[in-house]
Amino acid sequence: MPMRRSSYFASSIFRKQMVAASGLVLVLFLLVHLGGNLLLFEGAARFNAYAASLQSLGGLLWAIRFALAAAAIVHVSFAVLLTVENRQARDRGYAVRNTHGNTNFVRKTMIYSGSAVFLFLFLHLSDYAFGDRQGPGTVIAGVHGGESLGLFGLVWNSFRFTAHGWRPVVYILAVACAGAHLTHGIQSIFQTFGFNHARYTPWIRRASIALGIAVGTGFALIPLLVNIIGTPRP
Ligand code: HEM
Repeated sequence: MPMRRSSYFASSIFRKQMVAASGLVLVLFLLVHLGGNLLLFEGAARFNAYAASLQSLGGLLWAIRFALAAAAIVHVSFAVLLTVENRQARDRGYAVRNTHGNTNFVRKTMIYSGSAVFLFLFLHLSDYAFGDRQGPGTVIAGVHGGESLGLFGLVWNSFRFTAHGWRPVVYILAVACAGAHLTHGIQSIFQTFGFNHARYTPWIRRASIALGIAVGTGFALIPLLVNIIGTPRP
């Protein structure tokens, strides 16, 4: 019998679909964000031009930010709700065991890796989105005669182990959590929307793991390379 509309919105299927759809929006953002951030290694002019091109989107940028914030709120709220419901069901002894996907450590700790990334966002936004892009923290000694290097200088300086030892470590741990979260999250999106195919599902699982590792490694390379390179080229 088809599900009535009111019971569909109250169902755990609806909640799972909301987590999956909002997760997809966040994955797409992370891929674009990683690509943009890697421009840091193309030099200050290229990186700052990319940041300026985003700012020049004006109203559209605010619409994207609004959509991202909404996706993050929906994702976190429904994921927490599902976790609480699953725990209550398990305590009552009638939880249905999820036999899809990997039943490993990463799957079991999705709520923790997701929470770590969520908490990291507060530090991250205060670092860059609300950081001072013209102040002394944006000057790199020996580059461009002591002029401000804008957002590039802010990001580069913030990752120097010698100046802020804890920040690169926190960033590497946070992006490792984000990468781990994706290794299971991406395959879950396909499963939730009912894509199950004897031939393709194992490949989706492998691609999900590879993409999660690539995103985590890509972001982690940024603080690591800043310290290996030391002084950026002018
Ligand atoms: C090494 C890793 C990272 C670096 C270097 C980095 C760098 C930046 C920079 C420079 C900005 C400001 C962009 C601008 O306003 O033009 C920014 C914004 C942002 N970042 Fe990251 N990021 C990193 C990882 C992450 C991760 C893992 C997430 C999500 C889990 C994330 C989410 C965001 C969000 C939501 C914004 C605000 C976007 C906006 O308001 O325009 N970032 N990041």
